[in-house]
Amino acid sequence: MVVSNRLPIAYREDSTGATIPLLSPGGLVAALAPALAGSGAAWVGWDGTFSGSEEPLDLEGFSLQPVSLTQAQITNHYEGLSNSTLWPLFHNVGVNPEYSEAWWADYLQVNRLFAQRVCNVVAEDGTVFVQDYQLMLVPEFVRSLRPDVAIGYFHHIPFPDATHVAGFEHAAELLEGLGACDVVGFQRQSDVDHFRACLQELNPSVEGTSLPHSAAYPISIDSAAVSTAASQPMVLAKAQEYATSWGNPEWVFLGVDRLDYTKGITQRLLAFEELLASGAVSADTAVFVQAGSPSRENVARYQQLSAEIDAIIERVNTTFPSVTGRPAVVYLRENLPRTDMLALFVVADVMVVSSLADGMNLVAKEFVAARHNDTGVLILSTHAGAAEQMPEALLVDSFVVSDITKVMQEALIMEKGETARRMKQLRADVAIHDVAEWATTILGDLSQARKA
Ligand code: G6P
Repeated sequence: MVVSNRLPIAYREDSTGATIPLLSPGGLVAALAPALAGSGAAWVGWDGTFSGSEEPLDLEGFSLQPVSLTQAQITNHYEGLSNSTLWPLFHNVGVNPEYSEAWWADYLQVNRLFAQRVCNVVAEDGTVFVQDYQLMLVPEFVRSLRPDVAIGYFHHIPFPDATHVAGFEHAAELLEGLGACDVVGFQRQSDVDHFRACLQELNPSVEGTSLPHSAAYPISIDSAAVSTAASQPMVLAKAQEYATSWGNPEWVFLGVDRLDYTKGITQRLLAFEELLASGAVSADTAVFVQAGSPSRENVARYQQLSAEIDAIIERVNTTFPSVTGRPAVVYLRENLPRTDMLALFVVADVMVVSSLADGMNLVAKEFVAARHNDTGVLILSTHAGAAEQMPEALLVDSFVVSDITKVMQEALIMEKGETARRMKQLRADVAIHDVAEWATTILGDLSQARKA
């Protein structure tokens, strides 16, 4: 059984205007589908609506178990403690975590609701696989009710310096919550080390043997599926359509992100502004396409980021006009359909992933999986977990804008042979280390830990 804050579903209207739920085919769904196939397999989560129905949904072989949350619970658990306290705490990029007692109370309450739902549904001696920071107390609550089940937890986001995390007033409770697990997984070895150091700092008497098994399991994508999808005629036609609509510039730079302050979107736009100012490219020879899906829009810091991005783009486009009138920065501020997203990966010459902190960053992996002719340069922040696995990218400390500009310049002059050599290696690695490998490894360790 999988437990994640969000269920992998989206609601669409059919031709009669009725709302129908559809499975959203993300990497996690693809990875866990084989493990979930079988009787009693289920996915517990929130369906993204206010006070929605708790009626289970059977979609494409998945039994989805929606947990209904009230407006207040969403405000306090999701927007409050999860995304205004824990998200900035764990990413540690200079945004101060905010805190309120009411948020913490509902974080406890919502974690309890999820745990109760799990316990009602999970089979005897079953496996419960909990995802991410919104649900760190679920393992402990499940364990207290169901000593029979195996419990794993995967932390998709970074675990920074121990002293920083230990400074949060409920850090000990969060880590105790994970203490009930058989396996606790992180993206990188440094995240594992920080987690262990934090446990020791909060509770120096804790013995090594009483800690849950913790290790690094770098998450990935369904590489084969992305690669196949990116070569479909519809995607290639859309890529052509994009290039034509931008006036077929010599260089297409691309950024694809959730609109989040951890992604370094302003840094990369400022770097592109410097690149234009340097004269290395002009608005006629180059375009920067930034696709940004709106995210957590009720949280003040996200509204502020959105305004910052708008202001930079307006300035760059006014300062560097093109002859044709096509803006230097094309901003697609929407949730793009999958075809369009893949077409962007196909049409880009330089992909810029400039996160200031990022557990992994799957966009970097999707970009390389989508490149069939071994062209294209990946610029990748050293602060993204993906950097450890993708050394053939042009790695950069994305806090330093002038360094991003420098690697953009490097990308412009890279020999074709060198570009191809790097891309081939990147593609080969992501093809082998895919999300199925991730799922098999962590679930395998979970079943071993349970037997031991
Ligand atoms: C990150 C987190 C996930 C989260 C996702 C989307 O990738 O690690 O847990 O689901 O962002 O954010 P949202 O707030 O829309 O669920």
